[in-house]
Amino acid sequence: MALTEETRAQLLEIVARYPVPRSALNPMLHLVQSEEGYVSPEGIELCAEIVGLAPAEVAAVATFYTMYKRRPVGEHHIGVCVNPQCGILGGEAIFDALSSDLEIGNDETSADGKITIERIECQAACTYAPVATVDWEFMDDMSVDKMRDVVAKLRSGEEVQSSRGPVVQGFRAAERAIAGMDDGQADAGANNADANMQRGLTVAKEQGMPAVDGGLKS
Ligand code: FES
Repeated sequence: MALTEETRAQLLEIVARYPVPRSALNPMLHLVQSEEGYVSPEGIELCAEIVGLAPAEVAAVATFYTMYKRRPVGEHHIGVCVNPQCGILGGEAIFDALSSDLEIGNDETSADGKITIERIECQAACTYAPVATVDWEFMDDMSVDKMRDVVAKLRSGEEVQSSRGPVVQGFRAAERAIAGMDDGQADAGANNADANMQRGLTVAKEQGMPAVDGGLKS
């Protein structure tokens, strides 16, 4: 899908949020992904023109961060955390199962164009290891069977709800939200910092440890 004048207008809208145009580059690239499913050469050219950088400079940013994709992502993006905590508790097994079921490897898309899988790094959600993401929404305490069920629902078009509330909307919609466009789901999560996540802080307070309430006590 070619980028449109509407896309250009939205990119300019993002730029207007920042004192320096080039500072807007990261959300701009996410907006390009929301339109094209990846950071296309055309998107790189357009961003470069708008912020006054060389296309090579924009490409350097797009190739540095793993969230920017160089080829089209499927309808849904599934990330499986394989860092130590998640990997040991089942992340590696989950990734291997999805890879085998879908007959694709890391950063590849299923033949029906529905699912892209990726081995991802720690999502700072180790409390709920093994963790996966669907369109960057958390799926906590996963297992091979649970993720197979998620994939089956996604492929058949059934609704999939994140463990933390939001209903997953698709990769492109997620990218649009990351670009800063309101998707109306900002308040959809109910337990983003629940008792399990704050367990360390609770114990620290109970035991009178010095590093509490966001600062060191003397
Ligand atoms: S290791 Fe997976 S969320 Fe931290």
